[in-house]
Amino acid sequence: MAELLRVENLKSGYGEAVVVQGVSLVVEKGRSLALLGRNGTGKTTLLNTLVGATRHHAGRIVLDGVELTAMPSFKRAAAGIGWVPQERNIFKSLTVEENLTAVARPGPWTVKRAYEMFPRLEERKANLGNQLSGGEQQMLAVARALVLNRSCCCSTSRSKASRRSSSRNCCDRSAAWCATRACRPSSSSRTRA
Ligand SMILES: Nc1ncnc2c1ncn2[C@@H]1O[C@H](COP(=O)(O)OP(=O)(O)OP(=O)(O)O)[C@@H](O)[C@H]1O
Ligand SMILES: [Mg+2]
Repeated sequence: MAELLRVENLKSGYGEAVVVQGVSLVVEKGRSLALLGRNGTGKTTLLNTLVGATRHHAGRIVLDGVELTAMPSFKRAAAGIGWVPQERNIFKSLTVEENLTAVARPGPWTVKRAYEMFPRLEERKANLGNQLSGGEQQMLAVARALVLNRSCCCSTSRSKASRRSSSRNCCDRSAAWCATRACRPSSSSRTRA
């Protein structure tokens, strides 16, 4: 299967502190990869590094043959990196439906398909972001990342969101990131932080 994401000897952190110390991995198209590890071992920092939100110290990040390492975050997004931020960052003054339609891009993940994954969101589609429970906000954050139709979706733990959805369909379980275009839980692999 073709390669989607390649990370080589990645070192990154905050200021002078190096948190991610030489991580290498490869994710193929249509596959998902879960990153597991104890608290504070650098899982979120690694994902933040993929989206360009940390200080890069060494190593490379290549997505679908395009070198992302020196790119600012907005260019990484345009190149295909999607992100479900830990803080959710949904628009609280917009409805659920507006949160999705405002960012949706053409591709296999439509708003309708996102509602199929998270029926609770369809039930609440007229509610404002600040009227949602914590778990519902997490579902919305995941759905929003999916309807962006990026080739690679990065996400930290979303256990509240996945509890209410079909675990077989939800590509955003535990600490995971995956290729959203053809996400199949059965083809997932794991690596330890
Ligand atoms: N913004 C920051 N500035 C400085 N240090 C940070 C920052 N964010 C995280 N760290 C440090 O980086 C290390 C790794 O944190 P990180 O959040 O990546 O861990 P994690 O594996 O995601 O943990 P958890 O399982 O608790 O979510 C920790 O020692 C943490 O204190
Ligand atoms: Mg974390």
